[in-house]
Amino acid sequence: MPTIPFEVFRGSPGQTRFDTFSLDIPEHTPILTALLKIRDEIDPTLTLRYSCRQAICGSCAMRINGKSRLACLTPVGPEFRARGKLRIEPMANQPVLRDLVVDQGPFWQRYHSIRPYLVPDPQHPLPVGKESPMTPEQVAQFQETPRCIACASCYSACPAIASDGDFLGPMALAKLFRFVVDPRDGAFHERLLGVQNQSLWLCLRCNLCVESCPKDVRPAERIHDLKWMANQELGALERGSRHAIKFASNIREGGLLNEMKLARETLGLVGMLGQIPKGIELARHGKSIRKHPPIQGREELDAIYRELDRPEDLQHRPRVPGQGVKGPTQQPSKAGGAA
Ligand code: FES
Repeated sequence: MPTIPFEVFRGSPGQTRFDTFSLDIPEHTPILTALLKIRDEIDPTLTLRYSCRQAICGSCAMRINGKSRLACLTPVGPEFRARGKLRIEPMANQPVLRDLVVDQGPFWQRYHSIRPYLVPDPQHPLPVGKESPMTPEQVAQFQETPRCIACASCYSACPAIASDGDFLGPMALAKLFRFVVDPRDGAFHERLLGVQNQSLWLCLRCNLCVESCPKDVRPAERIHDLKWMANQELGALERGSRHAIKFASNIREGGLLNEMKLARETLGLVGMLGQIPKGIELARHGKSIRKHPPIQGREELDAIYRELDRPEDLQHRPRVPGQGVKGPTQQPSKAGGAA
């Protein structure tokens, strides 16, 4: 059995340090088991959160060598061999209460803000006393999301949360997706509009939430789906959507980004005036906006866009009620149009 050193974060706000503990344990030992051994045999003040020890409750998420992981699901050996050490820290983006325990209040507030329940549609009330079944195809649209155990690993790994307090975070948006594609829900439009203005476009598409999720929920893909649905449903109502739509058409036209045109189409002339200080700052750092010459190989770009336009590719997109992109729905869209 190898001797494995653990550098464990200790303390509370304002008083932090790393303590090193060494254990003779088999490499397959879960990190949670190792930490409990440290607590039981070396330092009874070590504070951590756990419950099921079987990757079910989501309580034991922490940073292991910098990555957000479930401690009960992560064996000691591979991490130790990869880095030559084991550095254990509390989750990021949440205030530390003590040692490895964080305050998850902000994480849950964001979750509750999306209204994680079916909102009745007054025009299409659910039958009283009867079930309201969905088709297998409808259920398949959100089959990954119910696997989420709310461990907050994605929230901890997310750089957008660190940089912008308005961002709802990967888990809340993935959960939102689950209700947006539910044909029984009556708040489709309001839900999309809510995140459209608040959060959706702050996602950096770094995929760290996908990498950190122990249940393969793939939140970044659900956020991408929400963006696509928001574009379909709300179109150019909001700046983020407008930017994405115009970005794609801009490239399609010239092969390279016409930044001036994109700014005008996204912000409008009045909005561009507000960007003048930023433009001056960029120019001072050598960034200039110029018209690009025609690109070579233009026909390859056209071929890519033709592929993207194929109807069968749209089949991979989630359903937008009223547009019939995927799967039948029993309710008309709030934006109009029959299901
Ligand atoms: S202790 Fe329950 S998920 Fe790890």
